[in-house]
Amino acid sequence: MYPIQVAVATYLFICIISSIVAQVPQRFTAQNPCTSKSTCQECIQTPSCAWCYDPEFSGSARCFQPSFPIAPKDQCKEEFVFNPDNTMSVISNLELSKAHSKAGSGGYHWGVGYEGSWNNTESWGSHIYQQGQSGGGGGGGGGQIVQVAPQRLKLQLRARQSFSIYMSYTQAEDYPVDLYYLMDLSRSMLDDKEKLSSLGDQLAQTMQNITSNFTLGFGSFVDKVVMPYVSTLPEKLQRPCDVCVAPYGFHHHLSLSTNTYMFSRMVKQANVSGNLDAPEGGFDAIMQAVVCRNNIGWRERARRLLVFSTDASFHYAGDGKLGGIVKPNDGHCHLSNEGYYSESSYQDYPSIEQINLAVKKNSINVIFAVTGSTIGIYEQLAKHVEGASVAKLEKDSSNIVDLIKEQYEQISSVVEMKHNASSAVSIRFFTKCLNSTGALVNTNKCANIKVGDVINFKIDIEVLNCPKLRKDRTQTIKIYPVGINESLIMDLEMLCGCDCEQPGDRYYLENAPACHHHGTYKCGICECNPGAFGRHCECNADEINKLSFNKTLGCIKPNSTTGQECSGRGTCICGRCECESRGTLENIYGDYCECDNFSCERHMGELCSGETHGICDCGVCNCKPGWTGPNCACEASTAGCYAPDIIGGEICSGHGTCVCGACQCENTKESRYSGKFCEACPTCPDRCLEFRDCVQCQQYHTGPLKEPDVCSANCTNVPVPIAVDTVEAIEENNEYLCHYTDEDHCQFTYVYYYDIERKLHIRAQEERTCPPEVFVLGIVFGVIAAIVLIGMAILLLWKLLTTIHDRREFARFEKERMMAKWDTGENPIYKQATSTFKNPTYAGKG
Ligand SMILES: *[C@@H]1O[C@H](CO)[C@@H](O)[C@H](O)[C@H]1NC(C)=O
Ligand SMILES: *[C@@H]1O[C@H](CO)[C@@H](O)[C@H](O)[C@H]1NC(C)=O
Ligand SMILES: *[C@@H]1O[C@H](CO)[C@@H](O)[C@H](O)[C@H]1NC(C)=O
Ligand SMILES: *[C@@H]1O[C@H](CO)[C@@H](O)[C@H](O)[C@H]1NC(C)=O
Ligand SMILES: *[C@@H]1O[C@H](CO)[C@@H](O)[C@H](O)[C@H]1NC(C)=O
Ligand SMILES: *[C@@H]1O[C@H](CO)[C@@H](O)[C@H](O)[C@H]1NC(C)=O
Ligand SMILES: *[C@@H]1O[C@H](CO)[C@@H](O)[C@H](O)[C@H]1NC(C)=O
Ligand SMILES: *[C@@H]1O[C@H](CO)[C@@H](O)[C@H](O)[C@H]1NC(C)=O
Ligand SMILES: *[C@@H]1O[C@H](CO)[C@@H](O)[C@H](O)[C@H]1NC(C)=O
Ligand SMILES: *[C@@H]1O[C@H](CO)[C@@H](O)[C@H](O)[C@H]1NC(C)=O
Ligand SMILES: *[C@@H]1O[C@H](CO)[C@@H](O)[C@H](O)[C@H]1NC(C)=O
Repeated sequence: MYPIQVAVATYLFICIISSIVAQVPQRFTAQNPCTSKSTCQECIQTPSCAWCYDPEFSGSARCFQPSFPIAPKDQCKEEFVFNPDNTMSVISNLELSKAHSKAGSGGYHWGVGYEGSWNNTESWGSHIYQQGQSGGGGGGGGGQIVQVAPQRLKLQLRARQSFSIYMSYTQAEDYPVDLYYLMDLSRSMLDDKEKLSSLGDQLAQTMQNITSNFTLGFGSFVDKVVMPYVSTLPEKLQRPCDVCVAPYGFHHHLSLSTNTYMFSRMVKQANVSGNLDAPEGGFDAIMQAVVCRNNIGWRERARRLLVFSTDASFHYAGDGKLGGIVKPNDGHCHLSNEGYYSESSYQDYPSIEQINLAVKKNSINVIFAVTGSTIGIYEQLAKHVEGASVAKLEKDSSNIVDLIKEQYEQISSVVEMKHNASSAVSIRFFTKCLNSTGALVNTNKCANIKVGDVINFKIDIEVLNCPKLRKDRTQTIKIYPVGINESLIMDLEMLCGCDCEQPGDRYYLENAPACHHHGTYKCGICECNPGAFGRHCECNADEINKLSFNKTLGCIKPNSTTGQECSGRGTCICGRCECESRGTLENIYGDYCECDNFSCERHMGELCSGETHGICDCGVCNCKPGWTGPNCACEASTAGCYAPDIIGGEICSGHGTCVCGACQCENTKESRYSGKFCEACPTCPDRCLEFRDCVQCQQYHTGPLKEPDVCSANCTNVPVPIAVDTVEAIEENNEYLCHYTDEDHCQFTYVYYYDIERKLHIRAQEERTCPPEVFVLGIVFGVIAAIVLIGMAILLLWKLLTTIHDRREFARFEKERMMAKWDTGENPIYKQATSTFKNPTYAGKG
């Protein structure tokens, strides 16, 4: 590693360490959230904090963390510690009903196993889990079927401290079932009605096979008797169709009863009616069937099923306006003596949310038994109604018995826990469902439950924040399985305040002598009446006003950003701050307690680099002579800011300021200085020229100073270069590469740099690179000769190529001539232009 790198790394390391160390005190206070709480109430609302209401207490903070070690001076006498804990007491815990064999017993009796109420958490917890094994002829309180245990708890919980309770659910055998059949009796349902009346007995039998305690009821609906839902022509009002009776909104035919024979009869007797538009007024009917508890005959302890069968969609809130009905649905029961919905023509349809609320409040499971064409709408609707389900009904309702049986089994095989706690309380359910070996899962739902199975829930309850109003600090929370009117009621009291802050307590006294009769003594501290102040209300506004002195004026630092009294670290007494004491090592002082001697900058973990360097005073390090800097870590001397090789040189080469013993270089637009002494400036002339002559004379014995004595005389500040084969500048060492050509046309290169001790070093090329002597004339003639030779060679080549080409052409011509097929003799049509005439008489000369 290079020395400068080491220095940089060390510096960075120191910086990181000191910044970490400087944060330690803040983190420490963050770990103890109690001490900053000034009232009992605030203290108790902070988890794990306790309040000391000892009137004689003299420690620094009344709000403390009991689990943390406390200085003896700050310790609170045990009898005065207010640290309420989460508590639970069981008010009602009837044993769960047990499944038992039906064999040989015609009737059903429930053993009286009343356990009484008890308040021991542990034995209760184990009891819950053991009761599955304990034998016996069945529990149940007072002959009642019990599916949820415990039934009532009283809890006292601190804010933000989670508390777990345990709850069990079982599906009791022979649990009573109420089934109300709500049927659309518009004309299209005629065949359904007939089918249902014939299946009535079968339905009753099937259900009685599931539970012996079964009741069945029947109601029907058409729509509001108002245009445009129903034709209001007088004759249509009487008989909308041939087989129809006058239309009506909702008609309750048969209250829930065990007399299932009546069901078939009532269905048979019911008459279909007619309406105009496609959607029906089913919502009116659901609302009435749900809220008219007494008329319908819903039992308190029973699984309540409302089967809603239709082949059409529904009208909902707002649709009533079409018929001129603007009064919203009030969600109350309005049944006439004859069982008709009397407000049908006066109130609008209920909204989906109104239906949901009513269904939820009455623990009813709605089963939408609808034909295929409308199933999609009802599936959407069911999502918004608690405990609702949808099943496909055949066109003529022939599958109604299986449908109800299946739906019932599906509904009863699932348990889903719900609660009605406000947002201030978080409730989370954990259960293994039926898997006793599995892990607890964060869910409120278990499926595939059979009669007799016990599901245990662990319920984590946490008060998230304390409500402002006292009355909101007690809540009744209901935890219930969906669709069953059984629940665990928790009376929750949030431990958000202190008794000693309430009138009537021993440690609550209005106009107390301890508060100079000007304040209320609460939990060991004074709360002063308006106009009085001071720790013991010893100050009076009138008096202070006379002094033209004002409470806040005296204790809040002018122009402070937080506006805290005594900077939050002291008590304002008569317009003057009394700063808190923090033991012997830490001292808080100043008119507004704004000063201390422990929050100054640190270096290597030491406040102001240790006592030998400086003293911390009000957030600032007061450095001892010889030291400077925000944490007194810097030497005051500027010796380190001079380049050592220049005698009488300027501080930081004149291009910077000396800060903490090191140069801080100036940066202007034209030049940016860098380097240890701001000697480097890539954009400015470097020092190469300065050293050139000395390097030349020392290394190569050439140059203007080549005489040895002149060289030694003029180059005392320049170190003798180190000879190297090749010179390369190492960037990270801030080395400068210099390159020159001397009078002999020789080139030489060298680098200069400063080491960690600010010493100049030069590395120079061992020998100059001189150009060899050259014969210029030879080169000239050589070049000319070469050009001529190349030209001739090209000419020859050209000649050669053309000759070869010609020869080839000629040879080809010859070949073609030989191969020609035509007669080479005379052309018959061709007459020669010349004719030869032979004179027969001519016999030549001879
Ligand atoms: C606890 O139970 C005992 C008797 O079982 C009763 O005397 C006591 O008052 C109960 N305590 C609470 C807090 O319910
Ligand atoms: C009642 O249950 C028994 C046995 O579980 C079965 O054989 C019988 O068919 C059922 N009766 C009806 C009407 O479903
Ligand atoms: C159905 O109509 C018949 C004859 O029209 C009537 O006797 C009977 O009372 C009607 N049923 C109901 C429930 O109104
Ligand atoms: C049916 O259940 C009700 C409670 O919902 C109960 O009062 C009644 O005694 C039960 N009847 C039989 C025969 O078990
Ligand atoms: C649920 O049962 C309780 C008694 O256990 C009863 O007071 C309440 O009215 C019932 N609620 C409904 C909606 O039936
Ligand atoms: C929860 O339900 C119970 C019982 O119905 C009721 O008394 C309580 O006020 C409800 N709590 C809240 C927070 O709504
Ligand atoms: C029960 O839980 C364990 C562990 O999560 C798992 O391996 C096992 O398959 C589960 N058993 C059943 C019946 O779900
Ligand atoms: C005290 O002084 C503060 C700041 O100057 C001012 O806002 C406040 O109204 C004064 N209070 C009284 C009671 O004069
Ligand atoms: C407070 O702030 C005002 C304006 O910002 C300034 O004029 C005044 O001098 C400040 N006072 C002190 C004590 O700093
Ligand atoms: C802070 O001041 C107190 C009391 O004057 C002194 O005992 C303590 O040593 C000081 N702490 C530091 C770090 O200087
Ligand atoms: C070298 O030094 C001598 C005396 O120390 C001085 O007279 C002379 O000018 C110097 N030469 C150069 C080139 O600086």
